[in-house]
Amino acid sequence: MADPQTVIPEDAAPTPVRALRWEEPPEGPVLVLLDQTRLPAHEVELVCTDVPVLVEAIRTLAVRGAPLLGLAGAYGVALAAARGFDVDQAAESLAQARPTAVNLGYGVRRALAAYHDAVKNGADVAGAASAALTEARALHREDAEASALMAEHGRALLAELLPAGGYRLLTHCNTGALVSGGEGTAFAVAAATHRNGRLRRLWVDETRPLLQGARLTTYEAARAGMSYTLLSDNAAGSLFAAGEVDAVLIGADRIAADGAVANKVGSYPLAVLARYHHVPFIVVAPTSTVDLATAEGSSIEIEQRPGHEVTEIGAPQGQTAVAEAGGGILLAALGTQAYNPAFDVVPPELVTAIVTERGVLSPVTGGGLRELCAQ
Ligand code: MRU
Repeated sequence: MADPQTVIPEDAAPTPVRALRWEEPPEGPVLVLLDQTRLPAHEVELVCTDVPVLVEAIRTLAVRGAPLLGLAGAYGVALAAARGFDVDQAAESLAQARPTAVNLGYGVRRALAAYHDAVKNGADVAGAASAALTEARALHREDAEASALMAEHGRALLAELLPAGGYRLLTHCNTGALVSGGEGTAFAVAAATHRNGRLRRLWVDETRPLLQGARLTTYEAARAGMSYTLLSDNAAGSLFAAGEVDAVLIGADRIAADGAVANKVGSYPLAVLARYHHVPFIVVAPTSTVDLATAEGSSIEIEQRPGHEVTEIGAPQGQTAVAEAGGGILLAALGTQAYNPAFDVVPPELVTAIVTERGVLSPVTGGGLRELCAQ
């Protein structure tokens, strides 16, 4: 990995980010993660030799973001199978590691079904493990392809909505290569716009409390050579009021059948601001993030995270996601209770468009979403 002190020269093309990869050293297969809790200061890899380590990595957000959670889930099942662990038990613990991103369960189910199909068809343990790995790799490829297609559809949509000049795009949380087998979701659209010379500025919300925008999106924007500016989440309102935002681009963790979008907490206030200021609010997500089995936004389970993520800063890395105290620097009086939902829900009427790999849905309606997913 790169020396954390190394400064990438402006004219150098940085190596693409690889958030996760499968390796087969002589000691046995492993899943290697770029530990996102250490970025941007340190590029450190986390080597998972078994599923409990991977589950902890998911819970502590060393690996995170909806599409990548799907890949982690699928590779996790393949890892359990290849290492001879109880595959059904591994699948269950992976699927339950975090509740909101629908992709996690989707990836787990795909690899698990491939494993069981192989067993049913007479495969031995190695053959069934290999079937699970093949499925994880297929999902990885599909995610990269979906990312490229979303980037193109999103770029075209922006050109249609904002025909003149360059755009100032506001984004929230982190949606680039760190969450994907490809260039990501919303960030992939910004990157395509940047390559086309139409990105004037990417406004990056810091994304309290875990700072995915500040730590991860700036890391990706800097590597892509974009013009970007970081803002604290509560500065977004004044930016809209000053007419400095041309469109909002965000990803999604789960899209309900009515088109309601669960995404990183802070997305809903941005949608309200965008509507008030007549700014397009665009969601970019693969169809694997659509959950037709969840009827509406209010039925989406929202992950509640420990209060110390709000009341402390700089907790030691690897602090378990369920601990009551994080061991970081206190930001609030000792014993303060914190409200810390990881996500909120944007109702469909506030979403201008949902960009998927299959095309753009606008206006956002349940019927339209069902049709898009049936294609
Ligand atoms: O809690 P996180 O960091 O996993 O949340 C991630 C987000 O909310 C992203 O915006 C979302 O997964 C969509 S990006 C592909």
